[in-house]
Amino acid sequence: MTKIIIHGGFFSEASQDNNTKIAKQKSLQNIIKLAHEYLQTHTALETVVFAVTLLEDDELFNAGIGSQIQKDGKIRMSASIMDSITQKFSGVINIQEVKNPILVAQKLMNYEDRVLGGIEATDFAHHNGFSYFNTETPQRRLDFENKLAELTNELAKQTSKPTSTVGCVALDNQGNIAAATSTGGKGFEIPGRISDSATTAGNFASKYAGVSCTGVGEDIVSIAVATKIVTRISDGKTISDAFKCTFEELKEIDGFAGAIGIDKNGTIFHQDSHPKMVFAYLENDKITVFE
Ligand code: GLY
Repeated sequence: MTKIIIHGGFFSEASQDNNTKIAKQKSLQNIIKLAHEYLQTHTALETVVFAVTLLEDDELFNAGIGSQIQKDGKIRMSASIMDSITQKFSGVINIQEVKNPILVAQKLMNYEDRVLGGIEATDFAHHNGFSYFNTETPQRRLDFENKLAELTNELAKQTSKPTSTVGCVALDNQGNIAAATSTGGKGFEIPGRISDSATTAGNFASKYAGVSCTGVGEDIVSIAVATKIVTRISDGKTISDAFKCTFEELKEIDGFAGAIGIDKNGTIFHQDSHPKMVFAYLENDKITVFE
């Protein structure tokens, strides 16, 4: 039995048109199909990296190419992976000028020092064969310029939400579970801000379940969403109860988040605090995509 689910953050009716929604649906359908095929001959860990690489390469999403721009005009990205076989987590925080942060996180899995941040993460990547790559797109520069123009509008600044972090959870033929998450951050954040995506609050896996999150990093970290869901499943809750219980806690802080997960029995689950998480999964030869 193999199972796989991916997400591409949130779809915002307010700021995105129907053509963007259709484009995201098509992209996720294509990527889930490719990743599902890949999973038949690869481990869960290899597959989540493969799927997230494809998501990072699609500029529709806020990860890798198409990452948001921070307040100082620069792009800083974060990504992580976690595997049930080794129970190891690796990641990069605020890395710059690489095409696929998830591949640097994968490289770090073989090191004793497995989570690197900032300029040193960037240096590590460039010294280890990752080429310099500018992930900025014209659309993201336009978004940045628009936000700059709104600078005098406090409300506009405070209500902006991260919309398109990406992630994948997979269960392979051997019963191993892995999770991967990658983000370009919130957009217009203070340089140095750390998102949830390369923490165990945003990305966690054990032999019982795996979870990847999207949404406001501060909310996800405050509730430790991915870790709590997986721990609750490890302690005997069903995956749906573990999600529901954790999202109740998120509601108490009016948190904005979504999460995808798979447990060891192959049960796929997803939940969001606000409607319109962008996700797709494939089971029993059928692709289900967000509407
Ligand atoms: N979840 C992505 C972020 O808050 O940066």
